[in-house]
Amino acid sequence: MEKIIRPETMQRITTPSLAQAFIDEQVAEIRKQVGDGKVILALSGGVDSSVVAALLIRAIGDHLVCVHVNHGLLRKGEPEQVIEVFRNQMNANLIYVDATDRFLDKLAGVEDPETKRKIIGAEFIRVFEEEARKLQGIRFLGQGTIYPDILESDGVKAHHNVGGLPADLQFELVEPVKLLFKDEVRMVGKTLGLPDRMVYRQPFPGPGLGVRCLGAITRDRLEALREADAILREEFDNNGLSGKVWQYFAVIPDFRSTGVQNGVRRYDWPVILRAVNTVDAMSATIPELDWSLLKKITARIMSEVPGVCRVLYDLSPKPTATIEWE
Ligand code: XMP
Repeated sequence: MEKIIRPETMQRITTPSLAQAFIDEQVAEIRKQVGDGKVILALSGGVDSSVVAALLIRAIGDHLVCVHVNHGLLRKGEPEQVIEVFRNQMNANLIYVDATDRFLDKLAGVEDPETKRKIIGAEFIRVFEEEARKLQGIRFLGQGTIYPDILESDGVKAHHNVGGLPADLQFELVEPVKLLFKDEVRMVGKTLGLPDRMVYRQPFPGPGLGVRCLGAITRDRLEALREADAILREEFDNNGLSGKVWQYFAVIPDFRSTGVQNGVRRYDWPVILRAVNTVDAMSATIPELDWSLLKKITARIMSEVPGVCRVLYDLSPKPTATIEWE
């Protein structure tokens, strides 16, 4: 496939008025391409698919069908946020699929990280395919491909990288932000009225909490991880660290350690806190967090999250560690 090249003359979108000009131009382009046809879009709630959804809603309204697949590995509150912003505020035609059980059943007992990624990616395509088949007469597929995806791979999003849709379900692609860099996508999203917590969302892997619930995923550990992660994010936000620290999250390993509560020995999970600063995710440093903040997060996790008796802060830079644990 021939690679698309961003023309050297294309101006960087650095201001709201340049973003508005881009939006006007793309709305006209989308209307020209799609006519009175319909577009289907997998809406993860990440920056890129959210901006494409908002652009398409602006251009074609309810001729866009958004499908939000909850694979059960999203962070606390994320599916609710997608529904609130897109269905309630933007009036989108949104199909919400809670496929948690399907994903967790397929992942049961699977320890190998790359096999877990493949299962999540393949199952995502199957769920999306089933929803697409239920709808008739859709010719177009919206995608949040951005320019770094084209530079770094074949222009295909990581979670679409597993097999793809079957031959009888081929769509014409609508990729309105494919020539934009991330900061430009954010500027367009902000100008389209998306909330800051969506526009400035930190990177979150396609396989989600699946690669942070180490080894074979179990529902009890996954829930403990989701709660601990929510506490970490809330405390970072309340202490002015969102937007200052590049990425932060919790990880739960697949081994237990001893604890003691009310004089009784327990055998519970540790939780690992991870926070990194980076420019391009190729290398990363560890921020020196306030000791009192770390102690507060630790105390909250230990008192609010059942099954957790120990909290650790990971001091390992990249290299030699990667940012994620799997
Ligand atoms: P690592 O762990 O390789 O992560 O240092 C670098 C950046 O990539 C993100 N990451 C992923 N994103 N699918 C994704 O969409 C994945 O499988 C995946 N693995 C890592 C990671 O969160 C970090 O920002």
